[in-house]
Amino acid sequence: MRAVRVAEYGSPKNLTVEDLPVPAPGKGECLLAVEAAGLGYVDALLVQGAYQVKTPLPFIPGSEVAGRVEAVGEGVPEKLVGTRVMALSPRGALAERITLPAAVCTPLPDNMSAEAAAGFLVSYCTALYGFENCGKLQPGETVLVLGAAGGVGMAAIDVAKAMGAKVVAAASTEEKRQAASAHGADMALDYSKEDWRKALEEMIGKSAVDVVYDPVGGAFSETAFRCLAPGGRHLVVGFAAGDIPKLPLNLALLKRASLVGVDWGGEIRANAAANVPLMKTLTEWVVDGKIHPEPAATFPLEEAGAVLQSLLERKSVGKPVIRMKG
Ligand SMILES: NC(=O)c1ccc[n+]([C@@H]2O[C@H](COP(=O)([O-])OP(=O)(O)OC[C@H]3O[C@@H](n4cnc5c(N)ncnc54)[C@H](OP(=O)(O)O)[C@@H]3O)[C@@H](O)[C@H]2O)c1
Repeated sequence: MRAVRVAEYGSPKNLTVEDLPVPAPGKGECLLAVEAAGLGYVDALLVQGAYQVKTPLPFIPGSEVAGRVEAVGEGVPEKLVGTRVMALSPRGALAERITLPAAVCTPLPDNMSAEAAAGFLVSYCTALYGFENCGKLQPGETVLVLGAAGGVGMAAIDVAKAMGAKVVAAASTEEKRQAASAHGADMALDYSKEDWRKALEEMIGKSAVDVVYDPVGGAFSETAFRCLAPGGRHLVVGFAAGDIPKLPLNLALLKRASLVGVDWGGEIRANAAANVPLMKTLTEWVVDGKIHPEPAATFPLEEAGAVLQSLLERKSVGKPVIRMKG
């Protein structure tokens, strides 16, 4: 099978496609013919060995996958063969075949493409967990999404709209702002400008927003926190800008505002059952056409390294998804 393999940590630019043996499904496992694999900023860090947890070498990167069950191991019902599923795996998605515990495979709704499913689990579950469980988002509230044209940001736009919020998408380039608007944002803000807080106030016609969704960090975070209304919630999702910001705590006191950590991965590792209601809601929304997880673009496996590099260089737009051939 064709696969991307990391033999030593380094730049994603150096990744190439190799021919590797097809794995056999063990007890309780499925063998999936991979149709699509989703990529995110974390995958780019893992390839470099720069993430907080290092994946032991050698490894096949990629943790979000969708495909068709091709074979099953001992203890897994034969009737699963042929089922279209999506799953998360610690590694292995950038390959034509992957083995996974059958228990982590979720059947796809009929109207969901493999490309949409491969870019769905991490970013959409994080968004719903963030807005519903952590941010208590209410219909009619105004949400500011930072890094809105990234994979995590685009899902946040979609989920916040499905929850009845008004969404301001903050992004650094015209191309990214257009992509965020096309994905449903009500307004698009250039937050690369010095005075973007003033521009936000003019744009929304009031002085503050109710919720900030922040997968970016760096200098953006404090300004965004200052944009909160009394009782506002700043959702800490990630630090794509690299720097972990420090916040003067008097801001939280003066605004009666909350800073809330959104660690969806940590939550489901501690309590896997917590994801059941999230997935139920999200799959219902997919079936009803209330959310639209289709990726803006797909790429062949040969371009996986370049796609990961573009995430590191802040050039990627939307959720990047790798489409396997035939
Ligand atoms: N909490 C959770 O459970 C959870 C789950 C998944 C991911 N995450 C985190 O969410 C973050 C975003 O992931 P993603 O996959 O959406 O990444 P992404 O597609 O690369 O989007 C990140 C966005 O951050 C902005 N950015 C600002 N400075 C940047 C820089 N120096 N380098 C790269 N991007 C920069 C970019 O938008 P502009 O150019 O418009 O500024 C970019 O579009 C990551 O930190 C990831 O670890 C958290």
